[in-house]
This record gives sequence, C-alpha cells and structure tokens, in this order.
Amino acid sequence: MPELTVGSEEHKTLFCRQFVDTHHVYAVRDVRWPELDATEVQRLRAMPFWDEAVQSEATAAARVRAMADVEPDALLREAIAMQAYEEERHALLLESLTQRYGITVGAGRPPAPRDAEWAFLRMGYGECFDSFFAFGLFRLSADTGLFPEPLVRVFDGVMDEEARHILFFTNWVAYRRLGLPFERRAWFLVRRGLGLSLQAFGRVRTALHLRSADAGDDFTMQVPEAVGDVTLATLAKTCLDENERRLGGYDARLLRPTLVPHLVRLALRVLPAGRNGRPTA
Ligand SMILES: [Fe+2]
Ligand SMILES: [Fe+2]
Repeated sequence: MPELTVGSEEHKTLFCRQFVDTHHVYAVRDVRWPELDATEVQRLRAMPFWDEAVQSEATAAARVRAMADVEPDALLREAIAMQAYEEERHALLLESLTQRYGITVGAGRPPAPRDAEWAFLRMGYGECFDSFFAFGLFRLSADTGLFPEPLVRVFDGVMDEEARHILFFTNWVAYRRLGLPFERRAWFLVRRGLGLSLQAFGRVRTALHLRSADAGDDFTMQVPEAVGDVTLATLAKTCLDENERRLGGYDARLLRPTLVPHLVRLALRVLPAGRNGRPTA
C-alpha cells in the first residue's frame, strides 16, 4: 500500500472519499418498526436517555450542517454535508421510534451555532468520547437482551455511522491543523485542546452525576439479571473490542481516534475485576 502523508491532498481525498463511499442509503419513512411484546415496550419506555438522545442528535446535526455551510473546499463540504444529513437522519429515526412506542420526548430545534468551527470541534470530540462507550454499551445491551433484538438490527447501522463520523473527524482535525498557516495553527491547537478538555470534563461530570443520582427505579426494575453481572472491566474491554471492530474495516492508512481507547486501557490496569468494578474481598 503506498505511503500516505497526513495533511496532504491525498490524505484529504482518501478520508473524504472513504466517508462518502461508505454512506448507507435509506429513508426513515421506510423503516418498519417491529411489534414488541408488553415487557419489551415497558423496558424501552423506562430507559432514561431518550430525551437526551434526540436532543443531542439534533444538536449534532445543527453543528455539522453549520460547518458544511462555511467549508470552502468542495470535497470536504460534500463529506461534512453528508455527515450532517446522517445526524439529521439519526434525530428523525429516534423521533420515529419514540412515536411508535409511545415514549415522550421534548421538542424543539437547536439554533445554528455562531462559530461553526468551534462547534464542530467540540461536537467531534464529544462524539469520540460518546461513540467509544456507546459501541460497548450497545454490544452489552444486545447480548444481555436489554435492547430488543429487532431494534438492535436497526441501530447497528447508526453505530456504524458514528464510527465513520469519528474516523472522519480524527482525520479532518489532523488535516486542518497541518493545512493552516503557522500563526493560525497555534490558535487552532488552543481551540482543539480547549474543545477536547471541555468534552472530557462534561463526561466526567455526567459520570459523577450518574453515580450519585438514581437512574430511575422504573428502569432498574426492568433491567434483566444478566446486566447486573457486567463489571466495569467487562464494559471497558467490550468498548475496546467493539471500537476496534467498528473502525477496523477502513483504510489502514487513515488515523484512528486514540485518546479515549488509550485512557481506557490505562484504567483497565487499575480496575478491580470484581462485580461492578468493586473489589470482591
Ligand atoms: Fe448521530
Ligand atoms: Fe455522529
């Protein structure tokens, strides 16, 4: 395989083409939601994240669309606009699911950001964190039966799209940084560092909040037995394996997101293997 110089025109063409060529064509109106039994519907309704999921997909869509609108390069714009379309489709898909199974979520469209690049940077790093954990949680939810099997098939495609998004973003950041003149490169690095730190800080805050708050008795009552046996170490390993599997099929010369997998590998060295990550003694 020929060498690839990160930041070159060949690099840009490869990460954009790979993204555009792996787009999956479908329309939300053609998705046939399966008939679920009463227990499955009850469990689905009790899941505490639907509102946040719909909102965050809509916010992602608005941010990526704003970036596509200001991108002067035709190929980059085509790829970023395609990501915006996919994020809009994620929001529509979730809205359609919540309507089908009678799940209440808030309405409202987020406004377009004023600073498109800043919003895209923050969103991209946010996706690198969220997708890594979503891959593992999705796998565990499917394997334990927490998430109904027919829905797993529909949302597997969404997970693949998120993998493409973080692959594209990781390569875009490197390409963008190297293509800027020196004086603007320093500013981009500051924004990149700040964007990443803010997203990391937000995830730590959410994790601490979840630890101290009750996720909802309704939901806890509906969780299958098998979920209780999942340790933090199992979750971390599953996330690493799934991350590798979902990103493994793309051109090996493209950059992969490395920060979150690296942090999780470090955490695995200190995590006890006991139930829920707590020592068994
Ligand atoms: Fe999405
Ligand atoms: Fe995404």
